[in-house]
Amino acid sequence: MSNYTAIIPAAGKGVRLLPFTAHCPKTMLSVAGKPIIAHILRQLEDCGIRKVVFVVGYQKEALIEYVRSHYPHLETVFVQQQEPKGLGHAVYMAKNAVSGPCFIVLGDTIIDGDLRPLVQCGHNAVGVKTVEDPRRFGVVEMQDGKVTGFEEKPEHPKSNLALIGAYSFLEAGQLFSCLEEVIASGKTVKNEIQLTDALSCLLKRGAEIVPVKMNDWFDCGTVEIMLQTNRILLDRYVQVPEKFLQNNKILPPCWIDETAVLENCTLGPYVSVAEGARLVNCRLEDAIVSPQTSLNGREEKHIILDKYSK
Ligand code: G1P
Repeated sequence: MSNYTAIIPAAGKGVRLLPFTAHCPKTMLSVAGKPIIAHILRQLEDCGIRKVVFVVGYQKEALIEYVRSHYPHLETVFVQQQEPKGLGHAVYMAKNAVSGPCFIVLGDTIIDGDLRPLVQCGHNAVGVKTVEDPRRFGVVEMQDGKVTGFEEKPEHPKSNLALIGAYSFLEAGQLFSCLEEVIASGKTVKNEIQLTDALSCLLKRGAEIVPVKMNDWFDCGTVEIMLQTNRILLDRYVQVPEKFLQNNKILPPCWIDETAVLENCTLGPYVSVAEGARLVNCRLEDAIVSPQTSLNGREEKHIILDKYSK
């Protein structure tokens, strides 16, 4: 068991994913049979983390209800971000719920790989990846193998090393003190209070922050990326309970939740069906079927379907 507390900023609206985010926050969207948040929590549990602080906002009830019912074994705290003032501000909202070492992972991102090296390396650490165009990201500057600076979404990046959205701190108090300094200074980038500026503040105060390379990350921002992430994850994890093989044709890879009901369907390749879905006489390929979706006689390809789909 780890003594780290995780902070998951999950207040965002996910406008680019409307209408699927009309009734839930982005982190509750299904991919490979489970909400994004479930993939994140599995990785945190693999790190031995047992306490999680969620920063919630938009459509928070859907997330709170899911976490409370599916993760009763975790110690969970929900804090509210009233206004969307940026990632740095969202993390600052968790201040009163966190002490000691803490780990931050963004609620709309599935990181490809093991998070343990970040949590267990014994340093302050950030997950990084070399990218072609770092201007959309937080950028890490290095000199002689050491991190010397951070900049959020720079026009002229000094390196190609991007922050992927996973951060590990030995002492939360120092981070919150730096966030306070950033907030008090009034500094924003793209009109938002940035976590990246608190990292710069930590460096200035003499903290060491090490970069930990990650394979990749899926910033599930659009339908196209959601479907692509679904396919990548289904190449790794599949689940087709025996009972579905009698009256249906399942073309692998697929992930079908035990609680789904299927009758006379042909599904796959690359179809994930989340809990409580009910499909009758359907033929689906390359599709995400969200929880509680009821479909009859649908023939679809390359699509996300939810319980509000017509
Ligand atoms: C946030 C961080 C940025 C990081 C990115 C990773 O940006 O501010 O430093 O590189 O996540 O996805 P956002 O995607 O919220 O604009």
